[in-house]
Amino acid sequence: MTEVSVVKDDAGPGTDDLVALKNVNKHFGALHVLQDIDLTIARGEVVVVIGPSGSGKSTLCRTINRLETIDSGSITIDGRPLPAEGKALARLRADVGMVFQSFNLFAHKTVLDNVMLGQLKVRKIDKQTAEQKARALLDRVGVGSQADKYPAQLSGGQQQRVAIARALAMDPKVMLFDEPTSALDPEMINEVLEVMQQLASDGMTMIVVTHEMGFARSAANRVVFMADGKIVEEAVPDQFFSNPRSDRAKDFLSKILHH
Ligand SMILES: Nc1ncnc2c1ncn2[C@@H]1O[C@H](COP(=O)(O)OP(=O)(O)OP(=O)(O)O)[C@@H](O)[C@H]1O
Ligand SMILES: [Mg+2]
Repeated sequence: MTEVSVVKDDAGPGTDDLVALKNVNKHFGALHVLQDIDLTIARGEVVVVIGPSGSGKSTLCRTINRLETIDSGSITIDGRPLPAEGKALARLRADVGMVFQSFNLFAHKTVLDNVMLGQLKVRKIDKQTAEQKARALLDRVGVGSQADKYPAQLSGGQQQRVAIARALAMDPKVMLFDEPTSALDPEMINEVLEVMQQLASDGMTMIVVTHEMGFARSAANRVVFMADGKIVEEAVPDQFFSNPRSDRAKDFLSKILHH
């Protein structure tokens, strides 16, 4: 696998906190979807977020790259508040790589072009360098031979790995994954989880919403359990899975582990 640079330049002043949410609140109309969220993610840390449907996990992710605005509180990346708009916002979105359940690749562009596009437009990298980097990343995630195909010609697992390569091409400081394997056929889940596992081992800072408990146990430094817009519990995976403290977490775990 080729080296991909991970978060060394541009460090914030004197702190190892890369992502910090402080007292974040958000409403959708009458629904208080994020309630007093305090969450800090250190450089190189892998945090798995789990919780029942509708608890606010996706919304939480989306606020971190400002796909959703917040009503109060603060979010900083590397000590800097999220920019509101313009080029600074485009750069933020590049710094915070996001991989969704649906792969969101550009259907009318080849796999290679999908991985080159952001490098050319946002990072202003020259074409040759962008192509080299795109090919190296596609090799890294195991789809190098698919570079000239269109997304629809790939399996779901392959498309999701292209989506990961596309985000990595921007040299993100942190990667957000929102249920990246939940739309995949079972036989494709592991190939995506393996890429994520490798990324975690390489030191990438990651926030991962997933119900893949095997991944949480082996890759996460910390599990954050959300329910009804609140962080109810945080613990290292072993402790969380073997000895959840809150009734909500116990109830949730009994449902997902025994079916
Ligand atoms: N754009 C929106 N407008 C109004 N309500 C929304 C919007 N997006 C999400 N919601 C509501 O906010 C709540 C939290 O949604 P969110 O998608 O963050 O939950 P989740 O924890 O990711 O759930 P799931 O496990 O099903 O993906 C839900 O009740 C949802 O219906
Ligand atoms: Mg969700």
